[in-house]
Amino acid sequence: MASGRPITSAIERLEVSASGLDVRWDDGVASEYPWLWLRDHAHDDATMHPVTLQRQLFTAGVAPDLRGIGAQVLDDDVWVTWIGDAPPSRLPIAFLARFRQPRPARTSVDIERVLWDGALIADQWPTVSYASVIDGDDGVAEWLRRVATYGFCIVEGAPATVEASQDLIRRVGYIRETIFGGFWDFQADLSKADTAYTNLELLPHTDGTYSHDAPGLQLLHCLAFDGTGGESTMVDGFRIADDLRRDEPDHYGVLSSVVVPGQYIGDGSHLMAARPVFRHDDTGDMVQVSFNNADRAAFLLPADEMTRFYDAMRAFEARANDRRMQWRRLLSPGSAMLFDNWRVLHGRTAYTGHRHLCGGYVNHEDFESRLRLALTR
Ligand code: OGA
Ligand code: ZN
Repeated sequence: MASGRPITSAIERLEVSASGLDVRWDDGVASEYPWLWLRDHAHDDATMHPVTLQRQLFTAGVAPDLRGIGAQVLDDDVWVTWIGDAPPSRLPIAFLARFRQPRPARTSVDIERVLWDGALIADQWPTVSYASVIDGDDGVAEWLRRVATYGFCIVEGAPATVEASQDLIRRVGYIRETIFGGFWDFQADLSKADTAYTNLELLPHTDGTYSHDAPGLQLLHCLAFDGTGGESTMVDGFRIADDLRRDEPDHYGVLSSVVVPGQYIGDGSHLMAARPVFRHDDTGDMVQVSFNNADRAAFLLPADEMTRFYDAMRAFEARANDRRMQWRRLLSPGSAMLFDNWRVLHGRTAYTGHRHLCGGYVNHEDFESRLRLALTR
């Protein structure tokens, strides 16, 4: 979570300075909170709406030279008194403790990831039962926790129906509308301009490289299969990134900086978006892997940069297509896989015969929202 783990230390000393409030914590940490920041984050009802938690204060209207003249601890709060006649402001100690050290804003959900290769999860991969997910919030929380930890989780024992698949997705969030519709249902009939609607092999990829906000989570449920091949594959893109950063840092740098365009042309659409294969946030944490060779649009860089890009992409593909990095399984009716399309690459082997899949997308932010709530249950 943005706040990290709760801090339990107490305040040892408060000191008022010209620029702000200096706090000394009992574990020795020293923090400095500027006066304007303290006024801006006061927890009284006139500053922060008690129900919606939205800011009520017109911050730009606060005098830029506002100064506190005193501060004291009362129970679980610090009270700041201001120069002039403004009423004192209350700031919970637990709130101040979340910002003991200044750092750039972070919104990612704080959960420990297990970066896997094929061997690590060959005998035991993340699963939950359909019954537990449908039964209640505890089951959903466990399901989402596993997805956040491993990048995917298989729901076992689901009825092989469209309705059960829709129910599953709705447990995570509302279904996202895309060019493929909302909830989709597909067979090898080329009803859309995408190789997903054929029986060709799909090498590991992420969906929606042509979308500024690529689908966050994807549920795939096989409703019927009568044929050969058609195994589902998954690869942990964050694990590939981690390995590359350690073993081939130049390639890692290229994949983290070269902006790669994706496109979708057909069905009355021409979508385009672009980002590096490895996207990081301002703090340097990796947030998203995007890779789809089939949907890559043309771009031309200076010759040496282009060569470096192809070299890096080759290194990435070598790892993504290495069987030792992959989890592979024939999804049977009743097994629905939910995966993080910002982390895990997915694919399938070529097949013959009849195969009927359904599924849908959920936005990443809606998954994060459910996960935050699940982690604080
Ligand atoms: C897709 C896709 C996988 C499958 O539709 O993008 O990857 O198993 N499908 O058919
Ligand atoms: Zn796909």
